Amino acid sequence: MKLSENAVELARRHNKVVFRDGDRVVKVFNDAKPSADIFNEALNGARVEAVGLPVPSVLEVSRIEGGEFDGSWALANRYIPGRTLYEAWCDDPDNINTYLERLVDMQIKVQSVKAPLLNRQKDKLNRMISQTKGIIDATTRYDLHMRLDGMRVEDCVCHGDFIASNIIVGDDGNLSVCDWAHVTAGIPEVDAAMTYMLFHIEHKDLAEPYLDLFCKKADVAKQLVFYWLPVVAAAELSRGRKKQEEFLKSWIYVYDYE
Ligand SMILES: Nc1ncnc2c1ncn2[C@@H]1O[C@H](COP(=O)(O)OP(=O)(O)OP(=O)(O)O)[C@@H](O)[C@H]1O
Ligand SMILES: [Mg+2]
Repeated sequence: MKLSENAVELARRHNKVVFRDGDRVVKVFNDAKPSADIFNEALNGARVEAVGLPVPSVLEVSRIEGGEFDGSWALANRYIPGRTLYEAWCDDPDNINTYLERLVDMQIKVQSVKAPLLNRQKDKLNRMISQTKGIIDATTRYDLHMRLDGMRVEDCVCHGDFIASNIIVGDDGNLSVCDWAHVTAGIPEVDAAMTYMLFHIEHKDLAEPYLDLFCKKADVAKQLVFYWLPVVAAAELSRGRKKQEEFLKSWIYVYDYE
């Protein structure tokens, strides 16, 4: 695909730059990103669209032709006019509870849909924990794998990165969800544990209000979400984010040996 001269940068991360280019959003990846991950993200997007969720349509995966990013792999999705739920709450902090409610309602709506063709949550978490050799010791990893072994089998759509910057409030007021790189078929409590952990990292004061609301609206015991915190914290450690390493390590113990 070609990136036009009018493309506007929306976000820049260590392994990609996200542009709006007319009616498309184009994520341009650097060489560090395996092309299989990019095709996987596109397939995830197509699968969640196929089960009827409000998501931006996947348009294309191809290499960029010409310009600064010539040869880089890129993923194009349909642009949804609006702003993120995160931007909306930053502009209107007095109504944070309303935004949290919208986030939780949307997360429960997404989780209520079944998508057995997605990658399995349990497999993905097991793989990620196996990748923490050198960060997490073998005994702790064993406990985490054991916990995953006992996970019940369900195929609810679990976004895996359900945060306010991945929710778009359209100009028509309707919500859509973007960024399906981490979606799996699994159990909702694990997905809620992931969001709770991400709130702890980015907006600590909202972590407990989020969990209260999720558990109330989904009628899920908090203990069931807490049960998965060691597993999601360990999985997050596999991403090699040094900044949060100490915090995440303090969450990974299944048993307290002291
Ligand atoms: N289809 C879309 N329509 C409108 N805005 C979008 C769309 N896709 C992405 N955006 C905007 O671009 C931002 C970054 O996109 P996205 O969340 O997909 O990437 P990311 O957060 O960098 O991904 P990852 O979590 O995989 O690192 C979003 O927060 C949102 O503001
Ligand atoms: Mg995102």
